[in-house]
Amino acid sequence: MSTARQTQTAARPAHAGGIVVLDFGGQYTQLIARRVREMNVYSTILPCSTPLKEIEALEPAGLVLSGGPSSVYAPDAPVCDPKVLQLGKPILGICYGMQWLTHQLKGKVDPAERREYGPAELEVKDGSQLLAGLPPRLKIWASHGDHIVELPPGFRTVGTTRNAIAAAEDPRRNIYAVQFHPEVHHTEHGTDMLRNFVLRICRADTTWNPRSFIERTVEDIRARVGEQGHAVCALSGGVDSTVAATLVDRALGKRLTCVFVDNGLLRRDEFSTTLALMRKRLGLTLVGVDASAPFLEQLRGIEDPEEKRRRIGNLFIRIFEEEAHKLGQVEFLVQGTLYPDVIESVSVRGPSATIKTHHNVGGLPAEMKLKLIEPLRELFKDEVRVIGRELGLPEEILLRQPFPGPGLAVRVVGEITPERLEMVRGADAIVEEEIRRAGLYEKLWQAFAVLLPVRSVGVMGDQRSYGYAVAIRAVHSEDGMTADWARLPAELLERLSARIVNEVPGVNRVVYDISSKPPGTIEWE
Ligand code: XMP
Repeated sequence: MSTARQTQTAARPAHAGGIVVLDFGGQYTQLIARRVREMNVYSTILPCSTPLKEIEALEPAGLVLSGGPSSVYAPDAPVCDPKVLQLGKPILGICYGMQWLTHQLKGKVDPAERREYGPAELEVKDGSQLLAGLPPRLKIWASHGDHIVELPPGFRTVGTTRNAIAAAEDPRRNIYAVQFHPEVHHTEHGTDMLRNFVLRICRADTTWNPRSFIERTVEDIRARVGEQGHAVCALSGGVDSTVAATLVDRALGKRLTCVFVDNGLLRRDEFSTTLALMRKRLGLTLVGVDASAPFLEQLRGIEDPEEKRRRIGNLFIRIFEEEAHKLGQVEFLVQGTLYPDVIESVSVRGPSATIKTHHNVGGLPAEMKLKLIEPLRELFKDEVRVIGRELGLPEEILLRQPFPGPGLAVRVVGEITPERLEMVRGADAIVEEEIRRAGLYEKLWQAFAVLLPVRSVGVMGDQRSYGYAVAIRAVHSEDGMTADWARLPAELLERLSARIVNEVPGVNRVVYDISSKPPGTIEWE
């Protein structure tokens, strides 16, 4: 980067020239932001109620108004400051976004007799800027109730479906709108439409990439924390918290301390290997706390899954607080929250609404009164892996399967005892080893063992046995929200079964879980 360029970047906001997506609560909002980033353009999602000044401060190249489930006539219909339409920046309204801007600019929106949902065919008119270069007929993905019967003055129809004005634009005011979803894969050439908007119409800055994300995030964190501030991070060794910690470590160095708590519910050798990896390979300042005894004490006799989670969460907070206290003055807490963890649609209600963040153990930020640093909160898991790779993190961390915060506690169904934990640990180690050997570890979302509280009769070496059953769970999933059970090869299942029964004392039966999510969740508890 040249000096001139550096000076220029320093004078402008870090993300100038990107795209701001204003969220009206649409189910695909995050996809819009992601498609934009795929063009190497920075994009951020803000609640539609964000004050105009905040939007302007980002100096975006253009704005997208997202879809949303509401009708513009609903009493609580989400709105944004109508002055966004006068900012002079190019605007693309998608579905609800189109209806809202049509309504604002004195066009006419009617409640439809029936919802148009699913595939439809778009007829493209000549001379459109948004739909330039596209075939005359396209399959698109529609999802709207209201529809537009009259465009605002200055607009012209540039695309129609059988029963709707599907695309319109007013190039003079630089406002574009579609009644369908260009961001979903089912819309043919949807990405080209977005490219037309982002690259040709907005001429957005195309320097966003993993490296610039890292540089800008590090700058942002430094600016926020200041010269003296200290941060603490609860590290789990998973991808998200490790990438978040490494980013903050770049910004703050020794002023970030990571804490890794052994809750006695980790997998075999996990505590020691993770500590070594994080300290030696990543150079993080890391405190390891062995708290396995108090955790097991708290869990003694507890069978109810929610009670287990609650107790683990509460104790974790206590231990984490103690450690943070020992460090002295700490004002910030780093968390590896990702976009899918941020509850959708909440942002529609505006910045004042509490956004529930997902953390490994419940309640951490609320109780600790620390300011949150969440450098990954706008990213998807695969984007986080790309960032992690750019940061030089080992593949062994980046490709790790998810592991729940409450650990093996939710994989020992029923009461947790040291003996049962040892059984599930033994079975889990075999599952991981065999799945890796079969070349499936990176292809599966998760594969693990669950210890059931069921004993059954068996026969081993002419002797009667009366042992526990282990269930094997292996699933494919995009994001953990839904999952399909994996069709593992029969030979692999056979090997898993034989090894578990032979090598894990106390287990004499293995079953394979063929439930998908829904209705089953991925974890058993
Ligand atoms: P379920 O079991 O709800 O899990 O289908 C979905 C995904 O989330 C993981 N999981 C957790 N992760 N803290 C976490 O960090 C938790 O309390 C937790 N519970 C479940 C689970 O492993 C799966 O990938």
